[in-house]
Amino acid sequence: MLIILLALAVHSVAADASGVDAANILPPITARPQPQQTTISNGSIPDYVVKYAPLVWLHSEEKYFPGDVCEYCQHFDIFDKNDKSTKFNGNIADLGKYHGDEFTMVATEEWTESSWIYGNKPEKEGYCEAPATLIVVDKGNGWIDAFWFYFYPFNLGPKVLSKGPIGNHLGDWEYTMVRFYDGRPRVTWLSCHESGSWWLYHDLQHQDSRAVVYSAVGTHANYASAGTQQRDPTGSLVDITDKGTLWDPAANYLAYTFDGEAFYGVSERESAYGSWLTFSGRWGNRRLPRWDRRQRRYGPKLWRYVDGPQGPLMKGLIRVSPSHDDYPRWWKFWHI
Ligand SMILES: *[C@@H]1O[C@H](CO)[C@@H](O)[C@H](O)[C@H]1NC(C)=O
Repeated sequence: MLIILLALAVHSVAADASGVDAANILPPITARPQPQQTTISNGSIPDYVVKYAPLVWLHSEEKYFPGDVCEYCQHFDIFDKNDKSTKFNGNIADLGKYHGDEFTMVATEEWTESSWIYGNKPEKEGYCEAPATLIVVDKGNGWIDAFWFYFYPFNLGPKVLSKGPIGNHLGDWEYTMVRFYDGRPRVTWLSCHESGSWWLYHDLQHQDSRAVVYSAVGTHANYASAGTQQRDPTGSLVDITDKGTLWDPAANYLAYTFDGEAFYGVSERESAYGSWLTFSGRWGNRRLPRWDRRQRRYGPKLWRYVDGPQGPLMKGLIRVSPSHDDYPRWWKFWHI
């Protein structure tokens, strides 16, 4: 019993110290380090970040694969807070001009049957034609956070008590954050809907020394294991993961550093995408109106089509704690 209590005590101390070995006193993590505290320069990604990139197992019955943000934008206009077109011409390089959470990307065509919502299925060895997005943030004193963002054009919501799908939306952002100290991966955060779970790096499953995450079928929420993942206390809402299709985000990715103010791309490739990461609006239509023939309502706040989410900028990139909640609240059943 004493041993268990001790183990728990050590574990919670470790959690307070951002999950690192409590006996090993490490310098503080800072949201906005002073220049003399930083170890990386703008637009340069340390090798260890890519060496320890996560591997993603997509579900064997997944139909909605990763998509290229550039191609995705071509099917959208952007509406302002009055629901007026801004005449966005679908060019991702102009996306950063829409800075403000009142903007929403709205599909310019009937999309429920369009081929682009299915994205690109990764090929052999995990290469995917759609690049992942890597954002590296220096947290000072030798701490580095590497965010591997996964974009899927479409989120297929789950069924609850055989009703649904509930919570479909265009534009789905999920990610894995790997926190390094002194070039070694220490802690990870696996995004899951608007929140997620943190793990000591060595407690995750590994493949060739890289951490493995599982992406749930349809919703693409990240988990640390394969199986049925309960999402509410009653177990009526679940996510399902398995070792279906391997996606190696490090085989094709856009890479940036972020200093809390601006994103710095690492090469010409990122320049072609412009300042898209400063877009802070929604990546897909708002909840379809009740009268829309595609919409269904299964109960209070339980809609078939819900709001598209905000993108990487709004995911707590300068966090100090490993965790992040998009909408902190005790219970979020309807935020699917
Ligand atoms: C990154 O660039 C900005 C703007 O030019 C500059 O203020 C900052 O000091 C640079 N950061 C590093 C780590 O070089």
